[in-house]
Amino acid sequence: MRIGILGAGNMADALGTQWAGAGHPVMVSGRDLGRSTAQAAKMRTQATRPRPVGASAASAAREPSAEVDVRAGTWAEAAAFGEVVVVAVREAGLGDVLQAAGPSMRGKPVIDVTNAAAPDRYDSTRPIARMIRDFTGGHVVKAFNLCHVDVWRMTPPVFDGRPLAVPLCGDDRDAMDAARTLVAGLGCTPLDGGGLDRAMQLEATAAFVIGLWFGGADAQAILPPLASSGTHGVLTYDEGRSGDDDGRRMPRRSPGTMLEAFIPGRRRSPVVTEVAKGSGYMTAFKVVAILNTAAVLAQAVTAGQLMSGAGAGLHGPGAFVVHLLGLVQLVVAVLMWRPGRAAGWPALVSVAILLLGFVQSMLGGSGAVAAHVPLGMGLFGLSVWLVVWSWRR
Ligand SMILES: NC(=O)c1ccc[n+]([C@@H]2O[C@H](COP(=O)([O-])OP(=O)(O)OC[C@H]3O[C@@H](n4cnc5c(N)ncnc54)[C@H](OP(=O)(O)O)[C@@H]3O)[C@@H](O)[C@H]2O)c1
Repeated sequence: MRIGILGAGNMADALGTQWAGAGHPVMVSGRDLGRSTAQAAKMRTQATRPRPVGASAASAAREPSAEVDVRAGTWAEAAAFGEVVVVAVREAGLGDVLQAAGPSMRGKPVIDVTNAAAPDRYDSTRPIARMIRDFTGGHVVKAFNLCHVDVWRMTPPVFDGRPLAVPLCGDDRDAMDAARTLVAGLGCTPLDGGGLDRAMQLEATAAFVIGLWFGGADAQAILPPLASSGTHGVLTYDEGRSGDDDGRRMPRRSPGTMLEAFIPGRRRSPVVTEVAKGSGYMTAFKVVAILNTAAVLAQAVTAGQLMSGAGAGLHGPGAFVVHLLGLVQLVVAVLMWRPGRAAGWPALVSVAILLLGFVQSMLGGSGAVAAHVPLGMGLFGLSVWLVVWSWRR
């Protein structure tokens, strides 16, 4: 697998040397081609050295005679060279480098190893990995950012007899496969950390632990072993009540299985819903869903009065109230989904309710009662669905 590295510094040196030693052609890049060329030559020499005992399986399996291919190029040449492109530059230069690298990263696996310039300068509202994705159009996987560069020089990185696990956050299957291959090439264990939306957590974790290390603390000591993590069960909120004193829904655990909330790709995990609850958006949604349903029901009542000749004045304003509440419900559903990160489908159903409401009004206005009434019943059904869903949370 050809690897283009944006960067010719420490991380490019450590990772690129290992991958070159494992048989991958590598191209590094920097601001000065002469310096990058010298760096490539150094890496070639390092990668050609015999692998020590315990070296990664991929590098150990390499033919001793196989030629190590490390070269240097411009930012754009490295981006074009790589079947996978690794971003290993200082945050300060990221924008300029990506600009200079050009469009050839679009659709490719892009491994982002970058961290904030300093732990206290990390801005979690502007994740670096997302910025790289938006800038390049590549399939970004966040990886290798949690450990100091010296760890990536180890062959292999093993601590207390355990190979280092490398968390990967990305959305694209092929890009994740490429990242796993690169992790395995170092003799490490790839660990699926979820989608790219969780890369921010990896970046924040790096900022946090680096801050601890800078302060001289043993950051590894802050985490208990898995057996004491309390997360080796499935949290289920949907399997009925657990019998707690006040009858609230409580999570249950099924021993021996993974925490459901952390199975990558799960967007509607109980823990996520708990976040939405805590933010207050869920409560707001419950209230708006009830008001909306009541307004739709009231329309049925005033429609009956309208047909019997009474209450004509209320059906029109009632429709306005339904549209207004439909809009409010949609806004709250989106807020609940995004900042709270609850389920996204209530927002889609809310869009459907809002649009159907408009269609229904138009049908009513044009006298198409045969379609107006069943559509109203459909609207009511959708509204009740959201009420039931939200009040079961
Ligand atoms: N070092 C670590 O222990 C470690 C661990 C995990 C993650 N990281 C992250 O990995 C990335 C690379 O780190 P590194 O240790 O390889 O850094 P480095 O040795 O300082 O190399 C930085 C690379 O960025 C390039 N660059 C482009 N624009 C730049 C600018 N405006 N200012 C500074 N450099 C610029 C440099 O180009 P030139 O070659 O032309 O100088 C160089 O190739 C960083 O985001 C860092 O946070 C580092």
